[in-house]
Amino acid sequence: MQNFDFYNPTRIVFGQDRLGELDKLIPASAKVLVLYGGGSVKRFGTLEKVISNLGDREVIEFGGIEPNPQFETLMKAVKVVKENDIDFLLAVGGGSVMDGTKFIALAASADKDHHTLLFHGFNPVPVEKAVPLGCIATLPATGSEMNAFSVVTYNEQKYPITSPLVYPQFSVLDPDFTFSLPKEQVANGVADAFVHVIEQYLTQPVGAKVQDRFSEGILKTLIEDGPITYQSDDLAARKNFMWSATSALNGIIGVGVPQDWSTHMIGHELTAMFGIAHGRTLAIVLPSLLRARKAQKHDKLVQFAERVWDITDGTEDEKINQAIDKTEAFFNSLDIVTALSHYGIDDEGIDTVVANMEKMGLTQLSETGDLTLDIVKEILLAAK
Ligand code: NZQ
Ligand code: ZN
Repeated sequence: MQNFDFYNPTRIVFGQDRLGELDKLIPASAKVLVLYGGGSVKRFGTLEKVISNLGDREVIEFGGIEPNPQFETLMKAVKVVKENDIDFLLAVGGGSVMDGTKFIALAASADKDHHTLLFHGFNPVPVEKAVPLGCIATLPATGSEMNAFSVVTYNEQKYPITSPLVYPQFSVLDPDFTFSLPKEQVANGVADAFVHVIEQYLTQPVGAKVQDRFSEGILKTLIEDGPITYQSDDLAARKNFMWSATSALNGIIGVGVPQDWSTHMIGHELTAMFGIAHGRTLAIVLPSLLRARKAQKHDKLVQFAERVWDITDGTEDEKINQAIDKTEAFFNSLDIVTALSHYGIDDEGIDTVVANMEKMGLTQLSETGDLTLDIVKEILLAAK
């Protein structure tokens, strides 16, 4: 296992009927900006419940943060924060609203050209303060409710941003707020959480037994309870799905191990260029990427086959092939089509994706930097 630091200050408030605790979680004197997306939280009554639990605090609302939040929209919220001396941000929504709120928290405290905050990749944004924030998570998927990441779209490109200053102070995870989700958003969330685990688990073995077994536990839970949540209103499964999604990207399984975020980097381009939902892009790319990277990931793929998919028969290569096929079939069972052609993407589209990645400097992916754009092209052609 490699050396690591682990820090995660987010308080998780998990379960039904916990909104009454907002009063304790947010300072009594806070002037709160409540942020939300395209209106789902208004339509289903979540916003009203949140606001009624903020008591006498001064509250301003900012709606309209779109999926894959746009820099320009977020800058409008920054103006509201500054003009109204807001001192607490409360995100009510999915990954896009939570991510957008994190960016607003950083930008509202920074004087410099705000778009430069976008260009630090996975290094912390060089700012000294951020407006404190909390989240009411309505879509289990990204893990944004318990991590320090944000992804913002600017000039039709997705930019990852991170800062320890934007860990939410708390996140409320109430499964009741997710019953209004359209089925395809549940499917996207299962795929996203699944691939978050894979990107931290399916690399090279480094003897990190706890991280491996946590990862395998999350994957098995998603395989069991993802489809139940997709098909039904089963509360027990939904709770497990929700906590799986948070646990998949709150840092704990990623400590001390190599990580390979190639599927995400390729997937982000497919969202930016063709508007395909984040989780879906990952389900398209991952099976094809694993087939192209069998040699590099051999040992972990065998472990994945045996421990996650319980495949005991056959040679190691046969086990690997079966495990990748089962992974793809799992996504398909959630009605996610894993072929690019279904989304109208042809050879020309693939060339544009590759060209864009080159422009963005995404030319040496994987945990060792050996995944070149030629391989990205192969992966995408095989996913046609
Ligand atoms: O905007 P509203 O009207 O709220 O509708 C949303 C949106 O249309 C709807 N929705 C959310 N909760 C709902 C609901 N509809 C009914 N009932 C509810 N309870 O779902 C749609 C999608 O929402 P969005 O927030 O965009 O989805 P998701 O949570 O998948 O977030 C995706 C974003 O997160 C980024 C992605 O790149 C993308 O921009 N990611 C963030 C990460 C992080 N912070 O760590 C990591 C991820 O890998 C990912 O990149
Ligand atoms: Zn993701």
